[in-house]
Amino acid sequence: MFGRTILVLLLLWKQDSVKSVRLVELRVPTHEPEGGMALLGCQYDMEGDTLYSVKWYKDGREFYRFVPKNEPPVYYFETPGVNVDVARSSNTVVALMNLTQESAGHYRCEVSGEAPHFTTVFRQKYINIHLLPKGGPRVVGLRGHYRLDETVLANCSLPPSRPKAHLKWLVNDRPAPAEYVLGPWYRVSTDRPDAAETILQLSFYATTADFVNGAVKLKCQATIAPLYQREAESTHYIAFPFTITDPPDAEEIKDHAATAQDSIAALLIPIIFLILM
Ligand SMILES: *[C@@H]1O[C@H](CO)[C@@H](O)[C@H](O)[C@H]1NC(C)=O
Ligand SMILES: *[C@@H]1O[C@H](CO)[C@@H](O)[C@H](O)[C@H]1NC(C)=O
Repeated sequence: MFGRTILVLLLLWKQDSVKSVRLVELRVPTHEPEGGMALLGCQYDMEGDTLYSVKWYKDGREFYRFVPKNEPPVYYFETPGVNVDVARSSNTVVALMNLTQESAGHYRCEVSGEAPHFTTVFRQKYINIHLLPKGGPRVVGLRGHYRLDETVLANCSLPPSRPKAHLKWLVNDRPAPAEYVLGPWYRVSTDRPDAAETILQLSFYATTADFVNGAVKLKCQATIAPLYQREAESTHYIAFPFTITDPPDAEEIKDHAATAQDSIAALLIPIIFLILM
């Protein structure tokens, strides 16, 4: 009994090892931006068998077929969101163009050997399709100068994305304390109901704790992992009306000089008139 089992196992193993297609690697991106392209790679080893077909499926539906015996060997089926660039596709690669939200899904590569066994192996992976924001984070509400104890208030917003972006405020390159931050809020527009604009507010009192040597560096970081990271940075100053060490504003000096010249000119004109007369 035991011996028979071993014999059967040996026979099965022998049959498998002689002609057994092996799927070496399915190379499919996990995240791609909308509007872009994707290369789907399927590496296989026939291990002595002959290739009958390579078939690609999206969510269980066949969209591409490579059969070397056929003329031409490539055939593809119209599928929503799956735009195959046939010129760049082969037995091991399928090029997808013009990715849309509909392109997201499970992609399966299936490789079959010739008759009589038609041994078939397959593997599948999910592709996420993201909508990247058109432009980076934008900061509104900040001024160049603040007085002591005045509120520093700003909104950072990122144009619509899918999935939602993660926004982060940094004060002097360190994450802003939780009590400085309000939000995030998400705004959905009617033309892109699948995407959302992200807004995060920063609010704190101008003190010397944050305005180190009179200046504070504020940064808003936007992330859509793992595809996207951008930031907006600006520096702001605190005005010290009470300090004696601060030199007067350069603009103030210029203004004073201008008024002095104006008054001299105002005096000179009547004198010139007098001489002329
Ligand atoms: C992708 O879109 C462009 C422009 O809309 C079009 O010319 C091209 O044929 C499309 N490619 C595929 C493979 O659908
Ligand atoms: C910041 O965003 C919030 C939420 O959208 C809004 O209510 C507020 O008016 C905005 N403030 C500024 C300064 O833009």
